[in-house]
Amino acid sequence: MEQILGRTTQWLNADGLASRTHGYHHRLVDVGTGDGRFVLAQARTRPDTFVLGVDACRENLRTAARGAPGNALFLIANAHMLPPSLAALATEITVNFPWGSLLTALLDPDRPVADRLAALAQPGATISLRLNGEALSSNGWSLDAGAAQVSSVLRRAGFVLSPAQRLDAHALRTLPTTWAKRLAFGRDPRAVTIQGVFRPHGCR
Ligand SMILES: C[S@@+](CC[C@H](N)C(=O)[O-])C[C@H]1O[C@@H](n2cnc3c(N)ncnc32)[C@H](O)[C@@H]1O
Repeated sequence: MEQILGRTTQWLNADGLASRTHGYHHRLVDVGTGDGRFVLAQARTRPDTFVLGVDACRENLRTAARGAPGNALFLIANAHMLPPSLAALATEITVNFPWGSLLTALLDPDRPVADRLAALAQPGATISLRLNGEALSSNGWSLDAGAAQVSSVLRRAGFVLSPAQRLDAHALRTLPTTWAKRLAFGRDPRAVTIQGVFRPHGCR
């Protein structure tokens, strides 16, 4: 898998990843991480947690990757084809304000991206997914209907979810992602959070 270090990248194999994550009981994977601000904030405030940021767009990741602490790394990968070495790695998954092909696939029960997220998760792993109204409406969904659709797609993949909750401007301001700040101070701050736990089918 391709790890970005700044202007350069390097290939990281399964052994390399295992040695980087060794000793960390908590492993957070942030999918569609954008500029990596969320990953850096989590890694700096939670030294017991290894934090991986994944995004399909390498330009987004360059600056954050340069300043990444030892418990964080950034991978260039498409959520539709996540590296097999990430299988069952995550004790936490976050997806903050997806757009583009990531959001489209999360809304489509016939696209397997929710299964790809499930493949990342250890049994009992938590998931937090945040959606914003403007991205949903550009896909033809209202905020509530879009949140219900994404929840249904995730449930089919084995996630047990609580009902979606609205995020107000204050909640957005306190969330350490660039997109949350843009929304909080923008003209359309409507957003929701979907939270739950991965319980593979047949496990309690
Ligand atoms: C609106 S930005 C949000 C970035 C960040 N999570 C935040 O809250 O600031 C959406 C991100 O999803 C990424 N993305 C879209 N489709 C993707 C895919 N199929 N695989 C991985 N990343 C994807 C984009 O490159 C972009 O960085």
